[in-house]
Amino acid sequence: MENIALAAVDKPARYRELLPQLAALLEGEPDLIANLANTTAALRECVPAASWIGFYITRGNELVLGPFQGKVACVRIAFGRGVCGAAAAERRTVVVPDVEQFPGHIACDAGSRSEIVVPILRRGEVVAVLDLDSYDLAAFDDADAAGLRPIAELLGTLAW
Ligand code: SME
Repeated sequence: MENIALAAVDKPARYRELLPQLAALLEGEPDLIANLANTTAALRECVPAASWIGFYITRGNELVLGPFQGKVACVRIAFGRGVCGAAAAERRTVVVPDVEQFPGHIACDAGSRSEIVVPILRRGEVVAVLDLDSYDLAAFDDADAAGLRPIAELLGTLAW
């Protein structure tokens, strides 16, 4: 299996390069966990500023930890709680440049300084969120939100 190969330095171009490679990686594989696990590894290649990359999957009215790369993390997050719960409840990407300024932020890793959470929708339902954290302040911006949106759309086509 080829690894993900990204030549570009700037964020938009890196996400643009990642998308077809990720699509090829997921193509033809029906297993959801395998696909989410490989997606976190591919994103780690793409987003060097991220200290933690992973999924929280909708189970009833809460989010439960899925495949991730990084330190041990909180397992259950209620809809509406923390950055992940806010993104799921409001069905929108939430960019947090400074987690200390986000009321209700859930600190799984005390070193995290900034975060982005992107909801994944399938047939109009939030099936999961994709969460990226960083030890740097303001690591994520509109370029990440724009780059992750088509990735979330691709992931929405998986067998949730
Ligand atoms: N910070 C998140 C919790 C998940 S961890 O960052 C992995 C939140 O506030 O929802």
